[in-house]
Amino acid sequence: MKKFLILPSILSADFSKLGEEITKVLQAGGDIIHFDVMDNHYVPNLTIGPMVLKSIKDYNINVQIDVHLMTSPVDNLIPIFADNGANFITFHPESTNHVDRTLALIKHYGCKAGLALNPSTPLNILDYVMDKLDVILLMSVNPGFSCQLFIPSILEKIKKVRKRIDNSMYNILLEVDGGIKISNIGSIAIAGADAFVIGSEIFKSISYYKTIKKIRNKLRE
Ligand code: DX5
Ligand code: ZN
Repeated sequence: MKKFLILPSILSADFSKLGEEITKVLQAGGDIIHFDVMDNHYVPNLTIGPMVLKSIKDYNINVQIDVHLMTSPVDNLIPIFADNGANFITFHPESTNHVDRTLALIKHYGCKAGLALNPSTPLNILDYVMDKLDVILLMSVNPGFSCQLFIPSILEKIKKVRKRIDNSMYNILLEVDGGIKISNIGSIAIAGADAFVIGSEIFKSISYYKTIKKIRNKLRE
């Protein structure tokens, strides 16, 4: 059976006890922690940065962190996030002048590189960079906030990206971010996603373990 990845988004966690929250969500079955960085410029919200990343890495020593940069510009931040423990760094193409250069920079600093596409960003942006991608992150909400509703037209987009990846010679992870719930994850998986960023559905639930178990059951159906 295909191995699906669950990436709990700590944007919905309790920041007053972040280390414990991360330990709990990993014990409950989360695979990789999704770390949303917002700068009140590229998106209208302000969140966490490299110092918080370092604290998490020091506290939860084996955790893999997927840094989702919703900032502009991004190039100057890549060495800082890489030095502080990022395993994946994903950015939005509109946020940098030179997408190819930014991808190369992420690789240069030893991280896996991802490109995040907003709901209305066309797929042709992928045309000449497939060879440099480890992750394609499809946004299924407009970036900036948790607890938004999944945009249904993204299912078609996921199918198209799945085909592109399968028709290419590259091993690229197809990650979907925003509005993912127990109720819709099945259709997102059928459309072709490999990895699911999930914030409020997990962190606003009483038992992370039970919620992740229900999610895994949906992925087995
Ligand atoms: C939104 C962020 C998401 C967000 C997802 O801009 O990129 O990672 O935390 O949260 P939910 O699952 O609540 O939509
Ligand atoms: Zn995100």
